[in-house]
Amino acid sequence: MPRTIKILDTTLRDGEQSPGVNLSPEEKVEIAKHLERLKVDIIEAGFPITSAGDLQAIKLVSQNIKEPVIAALARTRQGDIDLAWEGLKDCRRPRIHTFVATSDIHLKYKLCKSREEVLEMTAAAVKYAKKLVEDVQFSAEDASRSDLEFLCQVIDTAIKAGATVINVPDTVGYQIPSQFGGLIRQIREKVPSTDNVTISVHCHNDLGLALTNSLAAIENGATQVECTVNGIGERAGNTAMEELIMTLTTRGDYFTDFATNIEQHHIYRTSRLVSKLTGMVVQPNKAIVGRNAFAHESGIHQDGVLKEKSTYEIMKPESIGLLDNKMVMGKHSGKHAFKNKLKEMGYEVSESKITKLFERFKELVDKKQIISEQEMEVIIEEELYKVPEYYQLVYFQIFTGNKFRPTATIGILKEGELIEEAACGGGPVDAIYKTVDRITGVKTKLLDYSIKAVTEGKDALGEVNIRLTDNGHIISGRGVSTDTLEASAKAYLNAVNKIVKKRGGLYGDDSSREDTSQSRGEGNS
Ligand code: KIV
Ligand code: ZN
Repeated sequence: MPRTIKILDTTLRDGEQSPGVNLSPEEKVEIAKHLERLKVDIIEAGFPITSAGDLQAIKLVSQNIKEPVIAALARTRQGDIDLAWEGLKDCRRPRIHTFVATSDIHLKYKLCKSREEVLEMTAAAVKYAKKLVEDVQFSAEDASRSDLEFLCQVIDTAIKAGATVINVPDTVGYQIPSQFGGLIRQIREKVPSTDNVTISVHCHNDLGLALTNSLAAIENGATQVECTVNGIGERAGNTAMEELIMTLTTRGDYFTDFATNIEQHHIYRTSRLVSKLTGMVVQPNKAIVGRNAFAHESGIHQDGVLKEKSTYEIMKPESIGLLDNKMVMGKHSGKHAFKNKLKEMGYEVSESKITKLFERFKELVDKKQIISEQEMEVIIEEELYKVPEYYQLVYFQIFTGNKFRPTATIGILKEGELIEEAACGGGPVDAIYKTVDRITGVKTKLLDYSIKAVTEGKDALGEVNIRLTDNGHIISGRGVSTDTLEASAKAYLNAVNKIVKKRGGLYGDDSSREDTSQSRGEGNS
């Protein structure tokens, strides 16, 4: 009978700590619904002391998600633990996750605490959390660089205080798989009380070893793995859930003793949603979910795959729910067929949204006649996960060429009023962005701009992703159109609308800016 490895997904907490990622509570709920569909065992929904938004997100996720355990992170301070509990109060299966660093480097330079003090903080925090919830997870931050004897002492203390899960993080992604597997084995041997709790691991990917370290830990007794969708997270990120799951199933012949509860055919859709809402573009050669992961370029490979897929394919694209690029809908497809297609693709959409989506589909089909599932997915996602359009693009006109200074004229709807402006720029995109700035008055700095085709073909939909800063906050935007300049304008307006939303609307008091400033990793003093 294989041992079940529990999956704790921390996309909404550690993943959200990726530079430039800032998910709203509603976006977190959307991602949590996908995680529930994937059947993750635990969703870590946030770190409430860091912002009012995080606390609100934990509350919303707790109210909307029924099956998985919901965890909230807290340092060992009582105030942190109280806030975690406040977020989780309505949750069916709450877990408080408290942590303190255990390595000498962290004790000396960050916490300014002695080992004795850390032992006391551990016991006090776990006992305090235990009065509020039954399920308490304790993490020894920087465990992998901690003195083994002291680490074991801290773990034993946490278990005796009531911890039900002990997490051993490789916080800075420093470990080598055989070493990390050995660490888990030694902890189990040296701390007999670990027999009665779940041993978890949380590996960062600084050396590209997060997945292999997690696998080594599983082989040495870990029964919970923490991971994120697309591997996002602090610095180089965390163990990518899709890589872990597909390794365990694709190499089920090797990992015969282990299984998870994950329904892997939801992987691709979840990956896309996380990429869209976080603004973190998935690199093309990313294992499992990158756009090239199932593409065969060389003639020899293509020939082999045409003759027999298993020559070069170890996984089936459909096993992660990757859509076929087959052409599906055209000019003559009516609303009924469209509705059926949505259903077939797994979307449950209200009647009013279907009408809106069908309008978008008709606009697109006028321009490009035949539409593939991938293109359908892009417009569906754009409509379903829209931010409020305080500023809405009505029209744009560009005058450009290699001998002229590009000029943009743009019409934007704001509260029902059409505002028109024009501006010149170094290029057509620059001219568009300067014109939008004039209309909205929102001052931003563009950090990144990237464009890619959603599918093959000269008439493919173009997808523009941008990242910009607004008063030190990084905001992402995405826009899709058959016209790349229109996609550029939409991406910029998408980011500007997010900024306006964050400020509390067109006339907001901007108070939301203050609340994310508290450092997430600071000491427990
Ligand atoms: O990387 C880390 O150590 C963490 C802990 C809070 C679990 O994210
Ligand atoms: Zn981490």
